[in-house]
Amino acid sequence: MAEAISDLLKAPTFDLASSEPSVVENYDLLILGTPVEGFRPAKETAAFVERLPKGEGKKTILFCTYILWKGFTFRALTNKLSSKGYEIILKVSKKGMKPDKPADFTESLDEIKKVFEK
Ligand SMILES: Cc1cc2nc3c(=O)[nH]c(=O)nc-3n(C[C@H](O)[C@H](O)[C@H](O)COP(=O)(O)O)c2cc1C
Repeated sequence: MAEAISDLLKAPTFDLASSEPSVVENYDLLILGTPVEGFRPAKETAAFVERLPKGEGKKTILFCTYILWKGFTFRALTNKLSSKGYEIILKVSKKGMKPDKPADFTESLDEIKKVFEK
């Protein structure tokens, strides 16, 4: 999903499991995603968000992938990011897996496109 968004926006991707959170300071927009694990963000995502610098109003789009139920994933990320000063402007998710064909992210990508048409 990160690659699909990156292709759409011609934006660089960073693997949050191996990136320094301070990298977000180089950009005006943060698009942060996670697989849902145990109804919450993956632990690597939670650790990255914990270490993020202050957002100072930086606009942020959240995305997640999950199979059945995303639970508290967006709530947990929104709470933590808002407390750090990030402004969440959109949350998009992709449910389900179809291993026989590539995932279709069209709906989420269309929602993201709308943000840039405003
Ligand atoms: C340890 C673990 C916990 C998971 N917990 C959930 C969950 O609570 N809810 C859910 O809908 N999917 C859950 N999943 C499924 C993942 O969200 C799913 O595999 C991922 O979003 C799809 O990315 P992938 O194609 O890279 O696996 C879990 C997967 C793992 C490995």
